[in-house]
This record gives sequence, C-alpha cells and structure tokens, in this order.
Amino acid sequence: MVKVNVISLLGLGSLRCVAGSAINTLGMLEAPTLPKFLTNNPLPDGKPWGKLTSPVGSAPTTGVTRRYDFMFSRGVSSPDGFQKDSLLINGQSPGPLIHANWGDWIEITVHNNITNPDEGTALHWHGFLQHNTPWSDGVPSVSQCPIAPGSSYTYRIRAERPGTTWYHAHYSAQYAGGLYGPLVVYGPSHVDYDVDLGPIFVSDYFHREYFHIVADVVGTNATRWGQPSDNTMINARANFNCSLVTDGTPCHNNAGLSKFRFRKGKTYRLRLINSSAGGLVYFSIDNHTLQVVSADFVPIKPYNATYVTLNIGNRADVLVTAAGDKDAAFYMRATQPNYFPCARANQPNGTAIILYDSAAENSIPAENPHPIPVDTTCSNDPLNLTIPYYPEPLNRQPSVTRQIVATLLVNATGNQVYEMDNSSFHANYNNPLLPQANRGNLTFERQSNVYNFGSNQTVRIVFYNNNQAPHPMHLHGYDMTIVSLGPGQWDGTTVFRPDNPMRRDVQMLSPFSHLVVQFEANNPGVWAFHCHIAWHLSMGFYINVLVRPDEVRRMQIPSATKRGCDAWSKYTKDHTVQQIDDGA
Ligand code: C2O
Repeated sequence: MVKVNVISLLGLGSLRCVAGSAINTLGMLEAPTLPKFLTNNPLPDGKPWGKLTSPVGSAPTTGVTRRYDFMFSRGVSSPDGFQKDSLLINGQSPGPLIHANWGDWIEITVHNNITNPDEGTALHWHGFLQHNTPWSDGVPSVSQCPIAPGSSYTYRIRAERPGTTWYHAHYSAQYAGGLYGPLVVYGPSHVDYDVDLGPIFVSDYFHREYFHIVADVVGTNATRWGQPSDNTMINARANFNCSLVTDGTPCHNNAGLSKFRFRKGKTYRLRLINSSAGGLVYFSIDNHTLQVVSADFVPIKPYNATYVTLNIGNRADVLVTAAGDKDAAFYMRATQPNYFPCARANQPNGTAIILYDSAAENSIPAENPHPIPVDTTCSNDPLNLTIPYYPEPLNRQPSVTRQIVATLLVNATGNQVYEMDNSSFHANYNNPLLPQANRGNLTFERQSNVYNFGSNQTVRIVFYNNNQAPHPMHLHGYDMTIVSLGPGQWDGTTVFRPDNPMRRDVQMLSPFSHLVVQFEANNPGVWAFHCHIAWHLSMGFYINVLVRPDEVRRMQIPSATKRGCDAWSKYTKDHTVQQIDDGA
C-alpha cells in the first residue's frame, strides 16, 4: 500500500507525506496511477493553477508546502534476484515518489544514516531551475557541504514548472548505488490523455557496489577502466540468469519483470526517465506507437515514433493508446545499444510486460520488437523531430562565447581522468563555491573548474569532445538552448532552427564532436555543467558556471547551509573522508 496520496486528504498549508513504507510498488500491478493534480487547495477555477492553461511564465502561488522525510541508509536489495549491498531511501530503492502541483514548495529532510563505512551525501533535483534557491541544488562542494554522517539537512525547493523528473544523490556515484527516485510536478498539459501511468525508470544496473566500480574506473589498472553493466531494468525490475554468478552471492532466478495494466481504448501517459549510470537506452513497446510529447521539462510538438531515445538524465513523456485485444500482452522494452562506443552491457535488453484488460498476470507476450537503427554517435533523437511547443527564438548575438575542450588522458600518477581545458574537476567538500562567491571571494582553486561569466546576458558555450566516448551533457539551473551540434569543428555560423531551437537539460556531446549551447543568464548562482555518465563524472568531466557574481554577492543564503558546513567540518576533524573520485 503506497501512502503518498494521503496528502490529498489533508488540509491546506503544511502537508506531511507519509512515504516511509519500505514496500516499493513501482513496477507492480498494484502501483497507483497518478492524478491530474493533487486536489487540496484549488485556486479559483477548480485547479491548483487556476485559470492558467499553459505551463508558461511564472508559477502560480498555491500557498502549499509538501514535506518529505528521507532516511538514507545501507541495506541489501535484489531487484533482479542478485543480492546487492545498496544505498536505500526509507528502506527502498528507488526512493518514494515526490509529487506536487505546479507552484507548490517542497521541503525534503534528508537524514544521513549511511554507516559502516560512513559516507557524506547530498541530494539533487534534476532539472529543477532553483531560481532564488541555488543553495538547494544539492551539489556537494558547490551549493553546500556534504550532509555529515549522523546529521540531517532540509532542502526547500519550488515546483517551478510541470513535468517529469527524478531526484538523485550528487555525492560521488551514490545514485548508481541506489539513491534516486521519481519526482512529478502536475500542471496544465498541452495534450490530452486518460490515465497517467506514472514514472517509468529505464536503466542499466550494476551488481557491484558503486564505490568499488568507481575505485576501478579512476584507478591505475587499465584492464579495469571499462566496467560493463550486468543488467537492464524497467522500474527497477528485471530477471537475471543466476548461473552466471560464480562468487557465491545469493541470487534467485525469475525475480520478475515490471508489469502494467492497459484498458483497451484508453490513452496512457508514460513518464520515462533514464536513471542509468553508464548507458543510453531506447524505449519502445511491441506493436504500439509512441506519441512523444515532452523532452526533459520541455513540452514538444507531439510526434509519433516507434522508439524514443533517452540519454542519462533525459526524460520523455509519451502517450500510448491501448489498441490491442482485451486479452493481449506485449513487451515494453528498454534496450541499450550494445556496440562501441554507446554502451557496455552484458545484458542490454530490458523488458516489462503490458497486460490488457483480461490478460492473465502470468501471460508471456510474443516477441515483436520494433527495429532500432545503429547510431554510433549515441545522440538524442534528431533535433528536427523534437520541436518545442512554446517557441523561444535563438538570440544570435551572444554577449560571450567560451570554448571548452574535453580530453581523456592518463595523468602523471597513472590514473585515467577527463580534463576540461586541461583541468580535471576535484570537489573541495569543506569550502563550497556558492557560499564562497556570496562572501565576495571570486578567486577559486583551479581544480574547481569555475567559469565566471560575470554579468553577461547571453552565454554561449562551445564544447569539443576530443575523445571516442559519448558524453550526455547536463546543465543545472537552466535549460540549454541547442545552438548546433555535429562531428569535428563547428564552423561558427551554422545554427539549428533559430526561430525555435531545441532546449532541454541533457544533450549528447557525441564522440569527436562539438555541441554548442546557450542560455540567457537570468539565474544567478554557481551551476554544475557535467557529463551525466556517473563514471565520467567521477573522472572529472565537470565544470561550474558562475552567473552574475554581483547578484550572488547580495544573496541571503539560509543559515542551514552554514550549519551543514559546521557539522561537516566537525565530522572531518576526526574522520578521514574517502574521496576517491572528483567528488560530485
Ligand atoms: Cu542529474 Cu548534476 O545531475
């Protein structure tokens, strides 16, 4: 029994979500479908967003704060039957659904109970813009100190726009160890549908504990640099062939696939999220057409497709009309491209099962996969398919353009690292950058990789990827406008669809390619810009974008940030922190 809907029964103002159940129904037939909106506190016109019909402009004032309480701890989990030491949120992974209406505030208190060994932590809200709350962005060494073992920290964030996203730990590669979950914001929609099927995570899955994988990836033994994933999951469920286990780890076959129920004739909204550590995923449903309606937080002109591409961190909302027979069953597929250089997967084919009205729970569908072409650029779906529904023309005269070259190399100590303009990122947990900039100190350590854009209005960044690996680039605090992309050098003039360019928060920087992005610098702060492959991030593929330091200087950072740093500094006085990677 999932209890998160309890909040809709409570009154106005402060709402506490009871999300402590260790039983995770995600991917089970009893998982609740989602409402069109949470029904408390409707504004005039019967909806929480009142008369607003499009999710454009500033969010409505709802007067609601939704509260969640998260306990982080170690535990074991076996989502595919293989028993793994994991990191859990309230005893489960993925963590509980956070949901809210457009305009609500959300307060999440994280208790760090990760012990044996201890780890710091921090929680990030992927794609949340954090206007006026940059200190709640959840990047340790940037917006806060890590949450010290044994202490708690409360994030206060605003649901600034409707859509689908996820939250995940941003401390080392902890999210690959289990610290992530779904986050849905209800709001006006540009498309109609009958039933919201809720979040659907598609992801690779690694049987080894994240810390050991990171140690190998950033280590000096070249034979252990490339780490293949063990499985591919849909909503954190999959089967695994336990005869492959040779080290005696407990494992049971047929752990079970995720299942969904369709009613013939209804149209479903599926909220797809790629939460992988390393893999690109193609999503498809046998015998069905997807109508793709959003890309990350951006509503797009609906288009039909047989599959949709999700790089790590990407979301896609798709509508699917149930046109099969009432007793039919079909495979839903999460497929990793198991070819160089897009993914490295021992089991690249994830499946789940859609059961129609009267289909028996144990129905086995026929195999009828849609073909997916090989694409060694590992790119997102073509830009001419994904057209924002609400256009924002490109400003063709950026006030500053910065070129950044990413290089893969073996450094003097024999470790494999990424350098951005010859500097591999390294987090200084004890001196976060936003509070430092707020104190007026703009002299940063080289390894903090801070790019200070001053008071420039329109910032353009030209990324060059000088290596054979793909890099799904994720910018915090903004959607990136995609100015141009392609192999080799950018000619400096080619721009893509300037009257209505694509914008989103994760876009692939392909092997040996350029990616040109731009944003209007209207959100002062220090913002992460990094490759979302967890292992590449560990290797230093990370920069910070400092926007409007004069306004950062004037911010009133809540005292909780300072208290968090005091707790961390006290902790680090008598504990050694095992910072084996770049830290973020
Ligand atoms: Cu999904 Cu820097 O994060």
